[in-house]
Amino acid sequence: MKDRRRTGGGRAWARGSSASSSWFALVAFLCCPLFATVAFSTFRIFGVSFRSVLLPTWQTSVINAVATDHSFLRRESISATATIAAKRGSNNSFSIRIQEAISFPDQVLLFLQFSSSLPRLDLVCLYSPPSNPTTSSSSPVADLRLPAIIPSFPTSFIRCPLAPRGFSISLSPDLPLLKPRPWDHLTYAALLDPHNNSTVVFAKGFNLRPARLSDHSRYECVFGWNFAKPKYLLTSPALTAAQEIIRCNTPPSVLLRFRSQSEPNPPLVSVKTKGRGAITLPSVARPETLRLSSRKNRHTMCVCTMMRNQARFLPEWIIYHSRIGVERWFIYDNDSDDDIEQVIESLRMSNYVVSRHLWPWVKTQEAGFAHCALRARGYCEWVGFIDVDEFLYLPTNFTLHDVLQNYSSMPWIGELRTTCYSFGPSGRKTTPSEGVMVGYTCRLGAPERHKSIVRPEVLNPSLINVVHHFHLKEGMKYVNMEKGLIVINHYKYQVWEVFKEKFYRRVATYVADWQNEENVGSKDRAPGLGTKAVEPSDWSSRFCEVNDTGLRDWVSMAFIDPQTGLLPWQKRRNLI
Ligand SMILES: *[C@@H]1O[C@H](CO)[C@@H](O)[C@H](O)[C@H]1NC(C)=O
Ligand SMILES: *[C@@H]1O[C@H](CO)[C@@H](O)[C@H](O)[C@H]1NC(C)=O
Ligand SMILES: *[C@@H]1O[C@H](CO)[C@@H](O)[C@H](O)[C@H]1NC(C)=O
Ligand SMILES: *[C@@H]1O[C@H](CO)[C@@H](O)[C@H](O)[C@H]1NC(C)=O
Ligand SMILES: *[C@@H]1O[C@H](CO)[C@@H](O)[C@H](O)[C@H]1NC(C)=O
Ligand SMILES: *[C@@H]1O[C@H](CO)[C@@H](O)[C@H](O)[C@H]1NC(C)=O
Ligand SMILES: *[C@@H]1O[C@H](CO)[C@@H](O)[C@H](O)[C@H]1NC(C)=O
Repeated sequence: MKDRRRTGGGRAWARGSSASSSWFALVAFLCCPLFATVAFSTFRIFGVSFRSVLLPTWQTSVINAVATDHSFLRRESISATATIAAKRGSNNSFSIRIQEAISFPDQVLLFLQFSSSLPRLDLVCLYSPPSNPTTSSSSPVADLRLPAIIPSFPTSFIRCPLAPRGFSISLSPDLPLLKPRPWDHLTYAALLDPHNNSTVVFAKGFNLRPARLSDHSRYECVFGWNFAKPKYLLTSPALTAAQEIIRCNTPPSVLLRFRSQSEPNPPLVSVKTKGRGAITLPSVARPETLRLSSRKNRHTMCVCTMMRNQARFLPEWIIYHSRIGVERWFIYDNDSDDDIEQVIESLRMSNYVVSRHLWPWVKTQEAGFAHCALRARGYCEWVGFIDVDEFLYLPTNFTLHDVLQNYSSMPWIGELRTTCYSFGPSGRKTTPSEGVMVGYTCRLGAPERHKSIVRPEVLNPSLINVVHHFHLKEGMKYVNMEKGLIVINHYKYQVWEVFKEKFYRRVATYVADWQNEENVGSKDRAPGLGTKAVEPSDWSSRFCEVNDTGLRDWVSMAFIDPQTGLLPWQKRRNLI
């Protein structure tokens, strides 16, 4: 009984776990010395090609630790409360609970809960085949252990290599085995909108039409701890539905729970279809309370962005935008494994207001922007949606505040559209140490698209947005900004070394081996590149039609330290 409550109200997969985990512990104990050597070859037995996806992300140190040290598994079963002792240095123990396992196209994310902060553990992902009474006892070799991929900073989740289909996953024989839930059939985030006490729920799996309002009467929200027990659930009608963002009234008793700040076990929320064949999506979403916006102390301009493994570009982007008037950054981190946390921490030490939000969800860019816009509304009058390689440029020396002030007195203006120019490698063959604004000065002549700065207060409540454009409340207007006043320099085609990462990211999304001739028709492909990540011989001179040194000159004037000749984001050269 006690055990059931601990594992989150007795989900289906928690049942029967004690039997299988003690069996598993025995197998693990007996086979320990064997495991590390069979793990990799065993992995191929399942006939799935993991190699191209997994190898680049495994750190050798972790692999070594697994190969040489089995104390983690050999340790006697510690207690029924699934306590894992921290391995190195101390005998402090802490408890760990796997809240959820979610299966993504290339890995499984385990969401964890700790009794204290996560020490550096060499965690191991344990896999167990679907229970099959006729084979499981005779083929223990079908069990796998693989090193977990642990980020270099404290976080609430760790990643495990993809589980073979049907396998369950765990981190210790003491913990229950979980069957990973698929990422594309899931309620994954929720926000409590304090402006009218509604709950905004982000879900995957209904395949709502893009860019359209859907019929909200077909949905309702469900609040509770265990969706398998309808008796204990609260439902409330949906007010809007679009792009898999459902807004519902919040039941008063749920509101009450959230008003007490320290709710230890907030309920989950999910979305249910109504009528025949009704389904309730599984959920990992506990509504998060947002700050009510107050006009006082509000920032004039904030930025929302989504990124993955681009931390090295952040200092230039943030220091520059701070100078022209951005006051706060919301970074939606799509599962980076670079040093993003340290980079953000050092920017914070220099008083830049930057926050990072984990957003590992697949194909959810629009939802991420909607999530960010709602969150930013409590802090910011205007929010820009730009990428880390995009820089707002005001050729006339005005700041963003000068420009925005003109629109603050026109409350019917909800969106400012800004033209983007795409810059090419500008003759460079290696990454410019001065950064992108000084390094790249040649671009295509025609603008490629535009980006928006929006007033989050006047977004349409459905939060529909299409490629960076939000629908606005009825009666609200947008304006196209004059190119002479403000544009965006988009350093889109950088030196090959940088560009090829972007290329890889795009193609890799659903293709294990990115050289497969798939996605060939994708509009995201760079013109003329085909599927080969091989540097075209004329790359450095491509995408160059107009010399545009405006931002370079402004940045050189405004930022270069006269003493050292360096820009603030430039790494000090070796002085010896
Ligand atoms: C280990 O536990 C013992 C007894 O609780 C304690 O005296 C000792 O200081 C602990 N050692 C470390 C390194 O925490
Ligand atoms: C919240 O806002 C939505 C959209 O404007 C509206 O449909 C709904 O009725 C509001 N809910 C409450 C509780 O006021
Ligand atoms: C939201 O709910 C709280 C608690 O029930 C109530 O005090 C508050 O007035 C409500 N706010 C709105 C905008 O309805
Ligand atoms: C995050 O990155 C993965 C892998 O590149 C991709 O599949 C996914 O769609 C991205 N998510 C968002 C929200 O862009
Ligand atoms: C911008 O300011 C700098 C220095 O204050 C000045 O040299 C430059 O002429 C100004 N540019 C414009 C377009 O006003
Ligand atoms: C603000 O509006 C005034 C009047 O239309 C105009 O003269 C001025 O240049 C504008 N300033 C900016 C920064 O757009
Ligand atoms: C850009 O300027 C360089 C150096 O002045 C010149 O060689 C080149 O032809 C120019 N490119 C374009 C596209 O105007």
